[in-house]
Order: sequence, then C-alpha cells, then structure tokens
Amino acid sequence: MQRLLVVFLSLSFFYEGVQNANILGIIPSPFYSHQATFRPLWRELARKGHNLTLVTTDLMEPNENISQIDFSKTYEILKKTETIFFKDASFFEIISHLIKILNETMVYQLTHPDLEPLKDPATYHCDLIIAEAVQPWYFALGAKLGCPVVGVSSMDAFPWTHRHVGNAIHPSMYHQVDFVYGSPLSFAERLQNTAFTTVVSLVQLKIFPILDSYVEEYIGKDLPKLTELHKSLSLLIVNANPIFYPIRPSTPITVNIGGGAHFESPKSLPKDLQDYLDQSKDGCIYFSLGTTVNSNYLSKETIEIFRKTFEELAPMRVLWKYENDTLENKPKNLEIRKWLPQHDILRHPNVKVFITQGGLQSMEEAIDTAVPLLGMPFYGDQKNNVKKMSIKKFGIALDVATIDKKSLKNAILELVNNPLYKKNIDKLSAISKDQPMRGVEKAVWWTEYVLRHGGTEHLRSPSADIPLYQYFFLDIIAFVTFVFIVLILIFYYLFKLIRGIFRLVFRKQIKVKTN
Ligand SMILES: *[C@@H]1O[C@H](CO)[C@@H](O)[C@H](O)[C@H]1NC(C)=O
Ligand SMILES: *[C@@H]1O[C@H](CO)[C@@H](O)[C@H](O)[C@H]1NC(C)=O
Ligand SMILES: *[C@@H]1O[C@H](CO)[C@@H](O)[C@H](O)[C@H]1NC(C)=O
Ligand SMILES: *[C@@H]1O[C@H](CO)[C@@H](O)[C@H](O)[C@H]1NC(C)=O
Repeated sequence: MQRLLVVFLSLSFFYEGVQNANILGIIPSPFYSHQATFRPLWRELARKGHNLTLVTTDLMEPNENISQIDFSKTYEILKKTETIFFKDASFFEIISHLIKILNETMVYQLTHPDLEPLKDPATYHCDLIIAEAVQPWYFALGAKLGCPVVGVSSMDAFPWTHRHVGNAIHPSMYHQVDFVYGSPLSFAERLQNTAFTTVVSLVQLKIFPILDSYVEEYIGKDLPKLTELHKSLSLLIVNANPIFYPIRPSTPITVNIGGGAHFESPKSLPKDLQDYLDQSKDGCIYFSLGTTVNSNYLSKETIEIFRKTFEELAPMRVLWKYENDTLENKPKNLEIRKWLPQHDILRHPNVKVFITQGGLQSMEEAIDTAVPLLGMPFYGDQKNNVKKMSIKKFGIALDVATIDKKSLKNAILELVNNPLYKKNIDKLSAISKDQPMRGVEKAVWWTEYVLRHGGTEHLRSPSADIPLYQYFFLDIIAFVTFVFIVLILIFYYLFKLIRGIFRLVFRKQIKVKTN
C-alpha cells in the first residue's frame, strides 16, 4: 500500500513536471511558410497547458497560454534581398547577398528589448527551447538558461545540421533542397554535389567562428561554440516530406513531421465561394502563386496569356488568388480574390486542377486533397518540388519565362482529361494519410519526452561526433593505398633481387657449361 502511494506520488510529480513547462519557441525567419509549419505545434503545446513564449515574425491569434514577441520588422530588412531572389541567381550568389543582410537582421533581433529578459536565467525560468535550425545562434540561449534545446526546420534541414546530429549526408544521395536533381543522381550531379558539400564544409569552418562572435557579443560570454551547440541538440524536428526529399537514414533524435505539418482542421467555405464552386459543374481551376511569390510578379504579357487561356476554357471556371483589385476584360468564367482559404477550396470536389508556384505547403495541400498540379516554379525549393512532381507524374511543369497560350491550355486540358495524373495523386494521397500519428502529435510526444528526461544525451549517436574524414573513411583509404604501394614496391624490388640472383647463378652455370 505504502509502495503504491509512493508510486502514485512520484507519478503525479512526474506528470506535474511535464505539465506547465515554460517553453521558449523561436522562429525568427521572416517567411510565412516557416511560421505556419509550427503553429499547430504551438497550439497543441498550449492546449496541453504549457506556458509558451513565442518569438515570431508573424503574430498568431492570441492564446491565453502563449505570449508573443514581435520580430515583424525583420520583413523590412528582408525586402532588401528580394531583388536577388527573383533574378535567376545561383545558390552562391544568394548566400553571399544574404550574409550582408544577415548582420543587420542579427543586430536588430538580438538587441530586441523584449528579448532581453529572456536572455537571463534570473528573470526567466526556461524548461525548453525550440528554435529554428537555420539561425542556430539562438541554440546558445539553451546553454545560457540551462535547458535542453530542440532544433526545428520548416523544410528538410541543411546538410550541416543533419551532419552534427549524426544523420547521413552522403553527397551521392542527399543534396541541398535548392538543387534540382534527378533521382537517382547522375554522375555529373554527384560530382557537383560532392564539390558543393566540400565547399560548404570549408565555408562553415569560416562562418561558424563569426557567428560565435555574435553569440559572445549579444547572448553571453563563455558559451559553447556553434558546432558543440548543434551536437548537443536534444531533438531535430524536420519537415521533410518523403515525396519531395529522398529518405535519409537518421538518428532517433531526428523527428520527421513531413507531410502536412502545417495543416489546420477543415473549415466551411464562405458562402460566395461555396456557391461558386458548387455551380462549377464543368470543373474549376484554382490558381495561386502563394504568399511570397504572388501574381504581382507576373508580367503584363503573362497575365494576358492566363486571362485569354482561361476565357477559352469556358465553361470550365477559374478561381484566381490575384493581388490586384481589378483585372481588365475579366472573362465571365473567372473570379479573382486577394486572399483565398486554399486548403478548404482544394477540398471541394469540383476543383480539378491547381496551378501553383510549387511551394512545399501548397503541394502538400494538393496531395492531401488529391488535386493534380500545374507547377510553375520561381525560386528556392520550388524547382526541386516541381521536378519531383514531374518525375512522379502527379502534375505537369511549365516554365513561366516561356509560357504561351497553347502550352498552358494543352497542359490544363491534359491534366483534366488524362486520368494518369489523378490516379497518381490519389495513390500518394492515400499513402500520406496512412500514418500511425500525425506530425504534430509526434512533435508534441517527443518534446514532452525531452522535458521528462531533461534531454536525450542517451540517444546521441557516434555519427554525431565523427569527423568527416573518418565518416568518408579517407584515412582508411589513404592507409590502405599506402600499404598497397609499399607492398608493390617491396614485391618489385624483391623480384628484381631474385631475378638478379637467378641471372647471376644462371650465367655462372652457362659459363661452367661452355668451359
Ligand atoms: C491553457 O492551459 C490550461 C491548463 O493550464 C488549459 O486548461 C487551457 O485549455 C489552455 N488554453 C488553451 C487556449 O490552450
Ligand atoms: C509564462 O511565461 C512568461 C514569460 O514569457 C512569464 O512572464 C509568466 O509568468 C509565465 N506564466 C506562468 C504561469 O508560469
Ligand atoms: C553589423 O551592424 C552593426 C550595427 O548596424 C554595425 O555596428 C557593425 O559594424 C556591423 N558588423 C559587420 C560585421 O558588418
Ligand atoms: C494593378 O492595378 C492598377 C490599377 O488599379 C494598374 O495600374 C496596375 O497595372 C495593375 N497591376 C497589374 C500587375 O496588373
């Protein structure tokens, strides 16, 4: 009986320990999709009674258990990068441009007055930090406040993040999300990817010490270095949908919530939209370029191509998320709105085709609702997503730079009339729904696991600590090659020696005979 009481008491203590934790969530990247991915996680943690402090560039609806720190000014700083994003800039150009803007962003964010009390264990008791892995300097707050840190990524994580928690980063199979590669990778792609991975590892050696100096200046002195902070992450939560990213061997602390992490529960459509879609008996095309790219980035000529094509597709109807108040000569079968509840629209059975920029979240909503896609990628991971879509044949890709009325109309008609695309996306939809628990449930379970055990040191893999030259056994290859060369040399000289001796003996014999 006494024992039972002890068990009960310790269980309730244990339960208390996990409830009402003070969790600091930090998503400092000014991209709506980065923010949206984790909103269901924040809501679920709050619903379970945790006290969440959220540092964000996009404030969410108020919630009694969530207090928010507004980093939205970061958007103004980011605006300065737009010019390079919409040029067909290479990854390296984008990176070098970003580094310039990074200083401004870091100084603004790290000196934000609302962040000050959260940097000091005397003014803020923190049980857990959940911080975005693309800005890893926030991991240092965990060391400062003395609590475990969970890294999160709204897409697949970068190679260096994977590497430091011990996941496979082999460049023969795994590439940067911005690269548009086939699967499997060709020889040229593997060569390029290997060179890139090597350069990134070298660049990281240069950049991490610079970032460490920001940590020292703005967060605290004598904190562990960034490499060590990565290695001591308690979890890495990634949003790597296996349809768009290759399956990666990973350590148990890597939690993949990919496949609709940002989904919200279905809501009914506003009456006007519901009526419009109900009346679209001949099918409706839904057209949206998302939040970051939007129709203002289309040229006048391209807009005209779309308008005319849509007109010709009547009696089919079109719903276009169009950011301007009016569209000249708008055909009768076309409706425009500045904002649309996309996922709920895609759920309507009359929506037959989704014209998209290929953003991950749009593609995931299309797969969830099994609507075939017409992908027109602009930048970043969109090109990779659309390429994977073409390979798996659940949509058709078009290049916005060369689009014309004929190719657009043909692509839409092909998607509507050829059952192949619908069949393929139906299959993917069924697979992606068939999971033991939803991504957000997985993330919450593992987050509370970290709270219960104060970290996951017991799950740390030796692959987190192994240097790259050992991971790729360059030392073993060098040693074996050395031994091999030495053996060959030994055999060569031995052979020469023996041959010499034989010759000597033989010659003597010949001499003896001739004598
Ligand atoms: C906030 O936490 C309490 C438990 O402490 C819970 O009962 C309540 O539902 C939570 N509120 C929200 C909006 O999640
Ligand atoms: C929740 O965290 C905030 C810090 O963001 C703190 O001011 C507040 O007291 C905490 N609430 C509870 C109930 O612990
Ligand atoms: C970063 O920005 C701050 C404030 O604007 C400035 O004082 C500092 O010199 C900059 N550092 C670098 C490395 O550009
Ligand atoms: C948006 O509308 C304004 C007039 O309201 C017009 O001047 C402008 O050209 C339009 N932009 C596009 C991309 O059509």
